[in-house]
Amino acid sequence: MQLSTKHLLGIKYITQADISLILSTAKQFKEVLQRPIKKVPSLRDVTIVNLFYENSTRTRISFELAEKRLSADTINFTMSGSSAAKGETLLDTVNNILSMKVDMVVMRHSASGAPHFLAKHIPAAIINAGDGINEHPTQALLDAFSIIEKLGTLEGKKIVLVGDIMHSRVALSNIYLLKKMGAEVMVAGPPTLIPKYIKEAMDVRVEYNLKKALEWCDVANVLRIQLERQNQVLFSSLREYNLAYGVSRKLLDSLNKEIIIMHPGPINRGVEIDSDVADGNQSIILQQVENGVAVRMAALYLLSGKS
Ligand code: CP
Repeated sequence: MQLSTKHLLGIKYITQADISLILSTAKQFKEVLQRPIKKVPSLRDVTIVNLFYENSTRTRISFELAEKRLSADTINFTMSGSSAAKGETLLDTVNNILSMKVDMVVMRHSASGAPHFLAKHIPAAIINAGDGINEHPTQALLDAFSIIEKLGTLEGKKIVLVGDIMHSRVALSNIYLLKKMGAEVMVAGPPTLIPKYIKEAMDVRVEYNLKKALEWCDVANVLRIQLERQNQVLFSSLREYNLAYGVSRKLLDSLNKEIIIMHPGPINRGVEIDSDVADGNQSIILQQVENGVAVRMAALYLLSGKS
């Protein structure tokens, strides 16, 4: 089985069959990761560069670990300490790296569309590790994998994305994926953080009342307030945001059912989610991080052409 695409630029561009193939391959790699020897030779002699033009903890470490578990050779590039800081263009940087015989590029960039631009200009396979406010496809895939682990399927499940939908690449990738896989999707948060056209454009439910949203759903994926991407005041204060849209223990206890709590990280504790919820028994936040390695192994393996 093969993917229908050479790159993983976004969930928008892949099919339901591609998503199923990545998730089923990730399941096999998760089994590998439970063994005493967690390494397989699948990508021996494949060289991968991790190009991170924007900060990351989980995604960067997860990709590097996935590459090492697959026996690939890895190179790590970060903006600070590179010649990009001296004004070198993205294309010049990448062409210089590729001239050293690199096969695949994993890329995070603050500009939406940066990996799409690269894909038009270089021959290597590209995985988008998050581009601006556009997409974060491997996050949506690991979120889907984690929901399926808990609920068995995405089909017919009710998932709400809570918070800063406007600036979230995790939200967009999750909406594309969940809709393609037959889930019901809602976005919830303050009107200023939810794009006005989203209901019609993306065929999702919209709810401005957090309690009603949580009463509706099976899973709440709580998103970080992305202050670094907001160039105007979109809510009065973090304290008021927490009072209206923070997921608290009290709020969860007031529901007539137990829902699953997710968060892509990094968490703003006490803003979009309280600590006792993030660390509580309904939270699968650390399982999401664990599953990220297997999901990224699957994406790298399938895109390498070695499958
Ligand atoms: N979820 C996520 O993308 O986290 P990082 O920014 O730490 O990679």
